Amino acid sequence: MHFQPEKLKISTKASRFTESVIREMTRIALEYQSINLAQGFPDFPAPDIIKEAAIEAIHKDYNQYAITWGAKSLRNAVSQKLKKNYCLDIDPEKEITVCCGSTEGMISALLATVNPGDEVIIFEPFYENYGPDAILCGAVPRYVKLHPPFFNFDENELQASFNDKTKAIIINTPNNPSGKVFTKSELQFIADLCMKYDVLAITDEIYEHILYDGMEHIPIACIDGMKDRTILVNGISKTFSVTGWRIGYVIAPPDITDAVRKVHDFLTVGAAAPLQEAAAIAITSSESYYKELSGFYLKRRDYFWNVLQDIGFTCNKPSGAYYIMADISSFSQDDVDFAKYLTKDIGVAVVPSSSFYHDKNNLEGKRMVRFCFCKKMETLEAAADRLQRLKGSSV
Ligand SMILES: Cc1ncc(COP(=O)(O)O)c(C=O)c1O
Repeated sequence: MHFQPEKLKISTKASRFTESVIREMTRIALEYQSINLAQGFPDFPAPDIIKEAAIEAIHKDYNQYAITWGAKSLRNAVSQKLKKNYCLDIDPEKEITVCCGSTEGMISALLATVNPGDEVIIFEPFYENYGPDAILCGAVPRYVKLHPPFFNFDENELQASFNDKTKAIIINTPNNPSGKVFTKSELQFIADLCMKYDVLAITDEIYEHILYDGMEHIPIACIDGMKDRTILVNGISKTFSVTGWRIGYVIAPPDITDAVRKVHDFLTVGAAAPLQEAAAIAITSSESYYKELSGFYLKRRDYFWNVLQDIGFTCNKPSGAYYIMADISSFSQDDVDFAKYLTKDIGVAVVPSSSFYHDKNNLEGKRMVRFCFCKKMETLEAAADRLQRLKGSSV
């Protein structure tokens, strides 16, 4: 075949988004040996219960492909948990698909339901994956702001983003990066719009057990009329501090689950079989662990929030998840320069918050950086020491 030098090697879709800024900051952190408060992964051990269960599963020779849509034990465990915690009746045979992390769950859900040209509503600041996920499906992302400092949406702005082309809205609660936990009345407002415009709610509930100040996690699927139009995406990465295990799951009505399972099968076949067995055991035997998890992170949130306030950042206390969005206006006008300065010169890696906005020059985005506090207390204390050098300075 004749070689055509002018023919582009890269697809239009792949050229429409960039590498994850979070992973880029992690690389710079490694290069400069800075403390990595950029990427949301814990630096402490995972609970013994899940590790021992994984070792046992390997000893029992769970070595071959699990059934493509997930080990029965894990699907049963997830179904029991949803019944117990939220009174949701989910059929483990027809409504659950286990994926390689909720990341795969989200893209499988979108590929299974969204057609090229459909619009998908995404709140911003957003978790970085949703925009590229929508683009990979050929969908048109429609962004709606969560306004700092409390990261609430404006009802009129949200309403104006729904139209006849809207196929889905992505809701991440508790929210990364803002720490917002959507309230019952906010979810009801979104649900009413979904029902009015015949729109799917695709939820990312990965931080469901990390909540502060009496906040409650409400899956939108629990709101009357929503179960049949909700795709709930979740996983064990954050709850059990095993972000590298890649176990997630998608809950959806049977017809949608059929489609999700097909997409998932051809994307990855299945998640690691022994780790699915371990996840099943951890999920069903962790009642007290779930309760302690929020307290564990509350201590870190309060400590680090006080450190940041003392140094001169302005920040809202997150109600859930494990990130703090800090206003940098008293130090710098540019989040990217400031994040690089923090990482290279101060020795603490953070994420510039413009990476959570589709318009990288958005003024709200350029005013903040994100600190992640899912770390040992000693890591946070070491970061606090380094950050003292910022006091009274400007960049
Ligand atoms: C909101 C959100 N969703 C999904 C993920 C990734 O989850 P998983 O490890 O299950 O793919 C993250 C990780 O930081 C996240 O913050």
